[in-house]
Amino acid sequence: MLQVIARMPAKINLLLAVGPVRADGFHELATVFHAVSLYDEVTASAADDDGVSVTLSGRYGSGVPDDQSNLAVRAAHALAKRRPAVRRPAVRSGVRLGIRKEIPVAAGLAGGSADAAGALLACAQLWQLRLSNARLATVAASLGSDVPFSLLGGTAVGTGRGERLRPVPVGGSLHWVLAVADGELSTPDVYRRLDELRAGRPVPDPTVPDELLAALAAADAPTLAGLLHNDLQEAALSLRPQLADTLAAGRDLGALAGIVSGSGPTCVFLAPDADAAAALASGLAASGTCADAVAVVGPAAVGA
Ligand code: C5P
Repeated sequence: MLQVIARMPAKINLLLAVGPVRADGFHELATVFHAVSLYDEVTASAADDDGVSVTLSGRYGSGVPDDQSNLAVRAAHALAKRRPAVRRPAVRSGVRLGIRKEIPVAAGLAGGSADAAGALLACAQLWQLRLSNARLATVAASLGSDVPFSLLGGTAVGTGRGERLRPVPVGGSLHWVLAVADGELSTPDVYRRLDELRAGRPVPDPTVPDELLAALAAADAPTLAGLLHNDLQEAALSLRPQLADTLAAGRDLGALAGIVSGSGPTCVFLAPDADAAAALASGLAASGTCADAVAVVGPAAVGA
């Protein structure tokens, strides 16, 4: 095999309940990950040496490093280390990665995690590794809390630091609009801000309400709208107060609900159907409260 292509969706969090800080510095989470139809494409091509290189293209390609610090490059190295000692002599362990980046960077959409997961899937095929899903997920978790979900796609409850996953059924398509902000937010900064805001407040153990899972099983958008929640939203708004204008604009334009996605700064809005999502995206793009707005559908599948 000379080339493998993986199509990797962005994710939003329909629920992000953040518990106490753990001894390892991560926060205990209860989250519902939901993959949506905005994709990065990761291509793994056979290299004629054992090195790993990366080339970026696409709308957001210039926003990520093209050196060994790139998370997809680190993913390829992490996988190469786990190759069995007896390997097929015809298959080299080098790879040329190409990433067509359409997911905004540091936006709360797990774009970097999508690229890392795509590199894992594409390199595993290119190198003809027969790794179980469980072993691939272990490598994924070593790269970042969201990478195991990015391997999976669809919709899943995440616990632990987000790496322990349980897929959940969704009864139909859900229609969303992503309002992409100008600039980035650093995930560690947002968690740190939340800790500051919470100082002295009791932090309950995070849970996923059964009503949310029932609304997903029924693809009941109006009920789901009332259950969307993100504990990081307060911290993201405190670091980027203009996001309140984006959220208000979405509500005024008829969204069923709107929340900050992950650690932000992207805001995500739920629409009743595809036509309403298209109209909401146009309205938000024209509102002057975000850099771009795009209508997407979930749950989306990983294409590898
Ligand atoms: O795992 P990942 O590299 O995506 O995490 C980035 C940062 O986000 C961590 O270094 C930590 O500051 C914060 N984080 C956290 N608790 C989690 C996930 C992430 O505090 N469950």
